[in-house]
Amino acid sequence: MSKVKLHLIAAACDNMGIGVNGALPWRLKKEMAYFTTMTTKVLDPTKVNAVIMGRRTWDCIPDKYRPLSDRVNIVLTHNVESVKENVPEGVVVVPGLDEAVKYIESREDIESSWVIGGSSIYRAAMTHPNCGKIYLTEIQKSFDCDTFFPNIDKQQFHLVDEEEVPGERQEEGNISYYFRVYKKL
Ligand SMILES: NC(=O)c1ccc[n+]([C@@H]2O[C@H](COP(=O)([O-])OP(=O)(O)OC[C@H]3O[C@@H](n4cnc5c(N)ncnc54)[C@H](OP(=O)(O)O)[C@@H]3O)[C@@H](O)[C@H]2O)c1
Repeated sequence: MSKVKLHLIAAACDNMGIGVNGALPWRLKKEMAYFTTMTTKVLDPTKVNAVIMGRRTWDCIPDKYRPLSDRVNIVLTHNVESVKENVPEGVVVVPGLDEAVKYIESREDIESSWVIGGSSIYRAAMTHPNCGKIYLTEIQKSFDCDTFFPNIDKQQFHLVDEEEVPGERQEEGNISYYFRVYKKL
């Protein structure tokens, strides 16, 4: 089987909401910095990581931040040709998760692969044979959301301690959250 592991990374609030009106429901600078660090850092300095996202998540990223820097950006869409015309050079556009995995396998310089949303891409990744861990920031507050993280089957995914991830409660403004990691059995 392929060695590529697909790690999911998301921030969700009390009701598992992840988005509203094509944007994040909150503004958490340190949480965003955690996302950037986790998805960018590599052990081998000659390599880079890949970030895999749905076309709507790509659309949600402000122009000045996309493509996400120092990472190979892979966008999933059913309309590969038309999306290709509208993304900068270097952004990889594929019709599904299997094609994303194949692309990653074809490159020797990709160290880790991060699935960064949204809903249907997370769902596809959780049921994919190459699924790795879920890095979920659990925000201790409810927000009005129209997009949600899929249910995590706790029979399949177990909470684990990860040395590189702070276990203590994080505070930002009046919002607290935890960085959690779930591993598929
Ligand atoms: N809190 C977080 O961690 C987080 C993370 C990511 C996103 N978000 C939020 O979530 C929202 C966007 O997510 P979303 O769930 O609405 O959309 P999304 O998953 O980012 O994008 C959906 C699109 O991806 C393509 N797609 C989905 N499944 C596919 C498949 N199996 N094969 C090929 N293409 C596929 C389709 O594009 P086409 O229509 O082009 O075919 C579909 O319309 C925003 O509000 C964003 O801010 C939050």
